[in-house]
Amino acid sequence: MTDLNLSDPALLRGQAYIDGKWVDAASGETFTVDNPANGEVLAEVAYCGEAETKTAIDAANAAQPAWAAKTPKERAKLLRDLFNIMMANQQDLARILTLEQGKPLTEAAGEIAYGANYIEWFAEEAKRIHGEVLAPPTGDKRVVVIRQPVGVAALITPWNFPNAMLTRKIAPALAAGCTVVCKPASETPLSALAIAELCDRVGIPTGVVNIVCGNTRAIGGELTSSPIVKKLSFTGSTGVGKMLTEQCSGTLKRLSMELGGNAPFIIFEDADLDLAIKGVMASKFRNAGQTCVCTNRILVHENVKDAFVEKLLAATNKLTVGNGLDEGVDLGPLVSVKARKTVEEFVEDAVSKGAKVHEGPSTPNGECYSRPLVLTDATKEMRVFSEEIFGPVAPVFSFSTDEEAIAMANDTEFGLASYFYSNNVARCWKTAEALEYGMVGINEGIISNEMAPFGGVKESGQGREGSHHGLDDYLEVKSLTFGGLS
Ligand code: SIN
Repeated sequence: MTDLNLSDPALLRGQAYIDGKWVDAASGETFTVDNPANGEVLAEVAYCGEAETKTAIDAANAAQPAWAAKTPKERAKLLRDLFNIMMANQQDLARILTLEQGKPLTEAAGEIAYGANYIEWFAEEAKRIHGEVLAPPTGDKRVVVIRQPVGVAALITPWNFPNAMLTRKIAPALAAGCTVVCKPASETPLSALAIAELCDRVGIPTGVVNIVCGNTRAIGGELTSSPIVKKLSFTGSTGVGKMLTEQCSGTLKRLSMELGGNAPFIIFEDADLDLAIKGVMASKFRNAGQTCVCTNRILVHENVKDAFVEKLLAATNKLTVGNGLDEGVDLGPLVSVKARKTVEEFVEDAVSKGAKVHEGPSTPNGECYSRPLVLTDATKEMRVFSEEIFGPVAPVFSFSTDEEAIAMANDTEFGLASYFYSNNVARCWKTAEALEYGMVGINEGIISNEMAPFGGVKESGQGREGSHHGLDDYLEVKSLTFGGLS
């Protein structure tokens, strides 16, 4: 293992975590995890496949009844301990995250706190899994509704939030009494394995949390086809979400899908432009534009467009791009060379169709850096209107009426996050209700927190994470009808 300069080097793990043990792949194979800032190899990780996944599923299945039988308070206590230990190790976890993913260290520390907040939240919610007593259907009957854990859950998580996307799934699953088999993204497995190390340290029982990394197709194939796995929760692209949904159809698993977005950011004529700039900078450039809730299309009223663009260019030019470990960096590298090339293709397409490029600050040398930029004169014919950019490119479109803005915003198969700025209460209500999205930021560019339901409509997925709704995805509803009571 490379020395990552951690206060606690034991947080760096390269083996799979199955049934409470750290194990190598049966084949002995490993894969490398690289630092996108400079291409250096950070670690070798066990390259697991079908066999290891099967073992992990069996371990989760064996552990599930005893875990579900624990009192909610006992499960809550362990989750609370996990929250505490994550926060106690925040700096090391942030360092691992920055090294494998690229985001600035302060943003990574923010992600650790964001991720830990889900654990704390669901530690509390674990004690609030309530049933119902219904009105009697007939005089001699009574109906009671109870909620029980779904069972073994498979959790497949992406590289853009290697910590928080996992905790947002593990926490409600464990709170509900489910056990889990997790497959983190191959670009960023180290954050997930560090969480497993902390689960182990706080005494989460053997087999409750299992993590396998490696052959995505083989692991995914086993997780989706196994009749033991009762639920799949996936965060990633819409294309992969559809494929996993198909694969799960054979065993009709419960599904939570948090998929792609194409977020509009509408600036009405009456908006506070400075507030809107603050919001759009946070929403567009968070994680170098690599979030599924990032602003994808900026829609500005024609009367304020010039003033808004001037402020946007000034704010973009102030950004600092660099190695996430360096002080004062706002944007790190993108996760891979492939990611950077994809972003460049979006820009080339827009330019070939008439967009004007306003380049932002320069980047250091390094193959994964993508220069932040603003595109003006953007039109609906460009790919940036209909596809998720996932990079630091801010295309500006204009509109002349509210109806046109809302129609443009909804003109997409996606429906995850949306944002708008206005000081008119009636316009706020009307727009919020008309936007076909699971989440709407109103005079606000950051909408993610553990208390708010996170999820989308249309092809952005199904199910909700976070909030008290987040538990529902891991619980079955069972009705008990008591008869003979006359
Ligand atoms: C995501 O990009 O998948 C999640 C973003 C967030 O939690 O804010």
